[in-house]
Amino acid sequence: MTAEANKLTIAVLLSGSGTNLQAMIDRVEAGTLQAKIALVMSNNPEAYGLVRARNHGIPTAVVDYRRYGKKQLLRVPESPLPEDFADLVKRQRLYRGLPPAEVEDRLARLILAEREFIRLLEPLGVDLVCLAGFMRLLSPYFISHLQRDGKYRIMNIHPALVPAFPGEHGYADTFSYGCKIGGITVHFVDEGEDTGPVIAQAIYPIWPEDSLESVQRRGLQIEYALYSKCIQWFAAGHLQVTTGSGNRLVVKILDPDYPNFLETLIRQAFGRSA
Ligand code: GRF
Repeated sequence: MTAEANKLTIAVLLSGSGTNLQAMIDRVEAGTLQAKIALVMSNNPEAYGLVRARNHGIPTAVVDYRRYGKKQLLRVPESPLPEDFADLVKRQRLYRGLPPAEVEDRLARLILAEREFIRLLEPLGVDLVCLAGFMRLLSPYFISHLQRDGKYRIMNIHPALVPAFPGEHGYADTFSYGCKIGGITVHFVDEGEDTGPVIAQAIYPIWPEDSLESVQRRGLQIEYALYSKCIQWFAAGHLQVTTGSGNRLVVKILDPDYPNFLETLIRQAFGRSA
């Protein structure tokens, strides 16, 4: 087998500027992340992350979710739902408190859009899907399809220390709460929103003179290093998922260099020049 064939094959899902994608690309090109980025996909045709991918010769694809809006759905030529749709409705944790018909409608439209992503992924033999600023929820259909062998195959980076501040505005929520420490979490994706097993976390200080922008800049520097490291650990078989107390799944990092890596990362973030 060639070295190329041994590499972890990943796909990245994003919706925006793609600076995390850029950090991955830079590390792949520098040889510090042994992975091949086979495809970058977006729900947003305008996402700058797509341009970043193309600039490095990485294939891109867009599934425009607007095609699956309430009115447009009727015009989608082929739209049968999966056979286990009723079960997926029961399992979903995305749309709480809505009337059952509304839940079914939203889930159906989400699944039809996601099926396009799955079709694109299928021939590529992707080992891992990395969410990098992907601003759409993932349904149990997509998640269980990707993880059908029982192994976690979707990672996400969230700009807060979960379980605090899940959702779309991790930096703003941390900052406006008056936190003195902010954090970044990389986790596997399960069927909830930012609830999957935590892989790694790192923290940074929030100083009195900080603004939301300066906090975000500091946090992003951590994101870039931490996300690629987690992917590299996954590739190297350094992530072990075990059952912790209370039956929660817990990830153990087996890399002996992990404490040094984390200490260096956090020290840098506490440097006033960060
Ligand atoms: C990052 O802050 C990431 O943690 C969050 O979305 C943002 C994406 O930024 N999930 P970018 O598109 O990678 O620049």
